[in-house]
Amino acid sequence: MINKVKKIVVASAAIFALALIAWTSAPSQAAPFADAAAVYKAKCASCHGANGTATAVGKKVGTRDFHAAEVKAQSDAVLLNVTLKGKNKMPGYEKSLGADQCKALVSYIRATFMK
Ligand code: HEC
Repeated sequence: MINKVKKIVVASAAIFALALIAWTSAPSQAAPFADAAAVYKAKCASCHGANGTATAVGKKVGTRDFHAAEVKAQSDAVLLNVTLKGKNKMPGYEKSLGADQCKALVSYIRATFMK
């Protein structure tokens, strides 16, 4: 009888330990990483336009055409910094999207509108 209780205690302790290991070793919750094209459409196109040329609303707040020579001439580091921190009427996205997603967006913009 005592032995049976001991076995149950040991078994539950083992299950608890395994559950604890599984729980603590789960990957930390990173910001969800979504397809850059889809994020651009959802979060950026209202000002920058689906084709990167800036919408009427965007132009009102000073959004420039991504194809313009002076915009293209900026380094990825500069574009990333604007995306992360914002600038004038451009909102910063570091907090809401995370740095990796912002980097992916800059790569997407460079590859799509700044060829
Ligand atoms: C409310 C309108 C608005 C939205 C939404 C917006 N932007 Fe902007 N963005 C701007 C404006 C305005 C500028 C120009 C800032 C300046 O230089 O004064 C800008 C500039 C930029 C630049 C630098 C290029 C340049 O013109 O010098 C990048 C890169 C950029 N935005 C990326 C993004 C990304 C990525 C998103 C979506 C996650 C986004 N923007 C959403 C308004 C917006």
